[in-house]
Amino acid sequence: MSKSSPLVGKRIVLGGGGGIAAYKVVELMRRMVDAGAFVSPVLTRASLRFVGRTTFSALGSEPARISLWDGSDPIPHTRLGQLADAIVLAPATADLIARYAAGIADDLLTTTLLASKAPVVVVAAMHTEMWQHPSVVENVATLRRRGVVVIEPEAGRLAGGDIGVGRLAETDVIVQVVETLFEVSTKNLLANKSVLVTAGGTREPIDPVRYIGNRSSGKQGIAFARAAAELGARVNLISTVPVFDSAGINVVPVESAQEMFDVVSNLAVSCDLVVMAAAVADFRSANVSPVKIKKRHGAPEIRLEPTPDILAHLGATKRPGQVLVGFAAETGDLEIEARRKLKDKNADFIVANNVLEEDAGFAVDTNRVTLFYGESEVALGHSDKRDIAEKVLRYVAEYAKNTGAWQE
Ligand code: CTP
Repeated sequence: MSKSSPLVGKRIVLGGGGGIAAYKVVELMRRMVDAGAFVSPVLTRASLRFVGRTTFSALGSEPARISLWDGSDPIPHTRLGQLADAIVLAPATADLIARYAAGIADDLLTTTLLASKAPVVVVAAMHTEMWQHPSVVENVATLRRRGVVVIEPEAGRLAGGDIGVGRLAETDVIVQVVETLFEVSTKNLLANKSVLVTAGGTREPIDPVRYIGNRSSGKQGIAFARAAAELGARVNLISTVPVFDSAGINVVPVESAQEMFDVVSNLAVSCDLVVMAAAVADFRSANVSPVKIKKRHGAPEIRLEPTPDILAHLGATKRPGQVLVGFAAETGDLEIEARRKLKDKNADFIVANNVLEEDAGFAVDTNRVTLFYGESEVALGHSDKRDIAEKVLRYVAEYAKNTGAWQE
């Protein structure tokens, strides 16, 4: 494996479960270290019955750990979990899968899993009957729903001479899957793609000085535009708020929903991806006064009329190869609302958040979102808006590739 592997410089926690396939995992660890990764072996007690700790310590990038309590570091799990770029569980036994799926944290490996936001690859290996047991099937489905990558066991000769599905996947296959995790985070993920992003709350005029507005700061939309530009896309940002650092981004300022509709519907025709992060007002004044409304004339009657729904329009006119990302800022049931918007507006993704949370949503620099697409639902965890944007874009690119929407 050459030094150009995407594993170069990546920190990987190799979580070893207690199964006979542990002997093959030594080779997997060595391959990842050879490829340039920094591999921290974290073993379960049961794994030591198959391969000794010294072997993992000698071939890993640092000594193998087993317990929360056996080192000088008082909280090794948070350090390991936070620093990790990926966690690979191999062999993932039925017991390890069950503890991870249930959120049990009773040893160093399972506490590390809970203390991490890094992607996790589960490489399952066990006897055929165990792999097919309904509890294992359900636990694996739970992990997949949460965005965990599961590498299924292969068919072959198993311990004890049985033949069937259960063998740990080939080392080459596992290394490839782990490399793919990082390939999608590389710089050129959106190269040659044209991306349109909207940001900020629209302002719907009442008269020349007053408007109906909302609390959107535009931060999440701007973070999307920046992340897309850094991933190599040509980016148009249609924004109601000023954008100070617009390097590599074409900013088009707009104010009202109608102005945004006009610009977006025009530019979207040639875009591969549209990210509708703007908080578009649903209603506007139907009788905008051309002059300032005077207080002495009494409270004005403002009749409201609906604005055009930009995302729904894009959904109705979507061309093949175009991917649409909408948002749902909610105070009620996220899933019901997000799924309704996904369907009604013919979007490919809905990024949903609860605006009542203090450290997420309007005006703050962090967010906590759940991504809805197809039948999937992925909670992206609490993070800064730039990080959220990049994660969503990774899912979008992966989806576009897998569904054939984007050919290259
Ligand atoms: N949106 C839009 N045009 C509108 C209103 C909303 O393009 N006139 C887009 C938003 O940019 C967002 C998505 O639609 O990506 C969902 O917006 P939201 O305001 O949450 O949904 P609504 O359609 O207004 O539904 P509801 O009022 O029921 O929440």
